[in-house]
Amino acid sequence: MLEVKNLHSGYGDVEVLHDISFIVENEIFAVLGANGSGKTTLLKTLSKLLPVSSGSIAWMGDDVTQTAAFDLTGRGVAYVPQEHNVFPDLSVAENLSLGALVGERSKKERLEEVFELFPRLAERTGQLAGSLSGGEGQMLAVGRALMQDPKIIFLDEPSAGLSPMFVDILFERIANTRTNRGVAIVLAEQNALKTLEIADRVLVLSLGEMHLLKDAKNLDRNELMEAYHI
Ligand SMILES: Nc1ncnc2c1ncn2[C@@H]1O[C@H](COP(=O)(O)OP(=O)(O)O)[C@@H](O)[C@H]1O
Ligand SMILES: [Mg+2]
Repeated sequence: MLEVKNLHSGYGDVEVLHDISFIVENEIFAVLGANGSGKTTLLKTLSKLLPVSSGSIAWMGDDVTQTAAFDLTGRGVAYVPQEHNVFPDLSVAENLSLGALVGERSKKERLEEVFELFPRLAERTGQLAGSLSGGEGQMLAVGRALMQDPKIIFLDEPSAGLSPMFVDILFERIANTRTNRGVAIVLAEQNALKTLEIADRVLVLSLGEMHLLKDAKNLDRNELMEAYHI
């Protein structure tokens, strides 16, 4: 579905990602790595919020290296940023409605599905997003992405700052989204052990380079710790 070849990108003259290549099929593709290793930069580049310095990105067979971010959204790509991923001054229902601006199915149908996945959101439709707890806010951010009826979601550190119980619930729902709806997920995380429980494949970044790329089930703990310089 997604094919990344010899990708380089960064901020202005500062190159952060060096020669990254991988393919994402219909799977949970984890991007792990220590703080500052380039996970967020990768997801922003894939979402076309950062320009590609060199290399290419193909989506469903089309070269999208120069495609605008909004155009990708229309082609089934959803992005959930690490921070500021909901509109705090809008209600839960309004945030979800914004997600439904693209796609074809009725908003009602999509809302029902999101509420089925995250019943807690259904109880808080009128509440301002800015007043939700951290975990509820992440559920809303994922719910809004799902309202776009995406084929793939780029999800940046959804577990950051959440209590272990919320992380368990959120990861279970993420796995469920992949299994029951066939949505591919690129999941950037620092929480490596938890991520390995649901990931099919794992890319570990280290200082902006590919440290390893493997099936999750073949990854041993020592290899992982090496990448984190532990
Ligand atoms: N807006 C920016 N301008 C310049 N450098 C940045 C910017 N954002 C991140 N970086 C740098 O890019 C590198 C990777 O950061 P990031 O992609 O956020 O890593 P991660 O998400 O893995 O923690 C870091 O060295 C960071 O300092
Ligand atoms: Mg990050």
